[in-house]
Amino acid sequence: MTLKGRKILIGITGSIAAYKIPLLIRLLKKAGAEVKVIMTEAAVDFVTPLTVSTVSGYPVYIDPYDKRTGNWNSHIELAGWADVFLIAPVSANTLAKMANGFADNLLMTTYLAARCPVFFAPAMDLDMFNHPTTQKNIEVIGTLGHRLIESREGELASGLTGPGRMEEPERIFEIIHEYFYSEARFEDFKVLITAGPTYENIDPVRFLGNYSSGKMGFALTEAMSKNGAKVTLISGPVHLATPAGNIERIDVISSEEMYEACMKEADNSDIIIMAAAVADFRVENYQGSKIKKSSDTFNLKLIQTPDILRDLGQRKKPEQIIVGFALETDNELDNAKAKLQNKNIDIIVLNSLRHKGAGFATDTNKITILDRNGAVREYEMKSKSKVADDIVAYISDFLKQKK
Ligand code: CTP
Repeated sequence: MTLKGRKILIGITGSIAAYKIPLLIRLLKKAGAEVKVIMTEAAVDFVTPLTVSTVSGYPVYIDPYDKRTGNWNSHIELAGWADVFLIAPVSANTLAKMANGFADNLLMTTYLAARCPVFFAPAMDLDMFNHPTTQKNIEVIGTLGHRLIESREGELASGLTGPGRMEEPERIFEIIHEYFYSEARFEDFKVLITAGPTYENIDPVRFLGNYSSGKMGFALTEAMSKNGAKVTLISGPVHLATPAGNIERIDVISSEEMYEACMKEADNSDIIIMAAAVADFRVENYQGSKIKKSSDTFNLKLIQTPDILRDLGQRKKPEQIIVGFALETDNELDNAKAKLQNKNIDIIVLNSLRHKGAGFATDTNKITILDRNGAVREYEMKSKSKVADDIVAYISDFLKQKK
């Protein structure tokens, strides 16, 4: 899929980098996209609406309505029109508004109404960029599922050198292009993804749990959704916002609840990815009232939880792809191969706890992917969102080979 016929809404805010946007608009138009532009009052001081409307081929939207004619620019219509909303350059001021839900101009009301993916490319002087409030706002907007186009280090308009320079128009063009290119990979696919830990209750106030943060499963959810899939995300207890996209989220606590939710959704799924760190054991006898410390030692009898992945492998449909995870400390490759076979799954993603920065509660991961055809592929240490992109690309290639 290309940019042909894609509808790109661009929001320009008051930053000197605004002068580069006409170049970006030209690149997008050349590739066949339709481009409409909203400008804030401050942006008009940096690039003229006449330039922007000439290159985009549409009038520029600035005010919610025209005071003289009463003509109304509907933010709902603009938001509904867009396949992608790109806010570039985004100033510190607009970042603050986005992080807090302000609705004081046409750009902000459209942003709040937009259901499509939102990309934002910050641009400002380095001290403003480095200010903790700006950094916090960027983080908050990221947790809402919007995609940051990171600014670069370089010479700034102030003469200072440092971070805060907007990414170059050619690269922004590539990012938007890649988004549409990859988006189609899993169109019409239903994908079931599990994420996070499970909590196994001991008594009304205690549980057995693990350090899984859910970040890997959520990154996979975002990557799959970005690739056009309809995702059902079954998540254990985590502190993460659901990414934007066509995603249904089911929250569970215990391995038993996760088991039931998975079995209910499995037959309806083309791809299943078990990224959750499901507890292997639960207490045999749950105590209905709080356990008192009556002696120096206390024995808890644990019994195995059902292996969800193995049961899914047993009832696997011929066209279904099942992906498991393995967290190993010794004999990693052999153990992962054995899990592939024993659990009757197609692909296993191995992460070894031996690598610093891999595994639970980190932002990075280092993986090796193995599949049922005997392929083994090792990857570099990367952010979990990049790892998710690698896993999605692997599944896509695996499917192509299968056909
Ligand atoms: N898994 C599962 N149900 C469980 C335990 C694990 O579905 N009760 C899934 C995990 O989501 C993961 C895979 O099994 O995709 C591997 O989990 P792991 O704990 O590494 O392997 P186990 O099969 O439990 O084997 P062991 O703990 O002995 O290494």
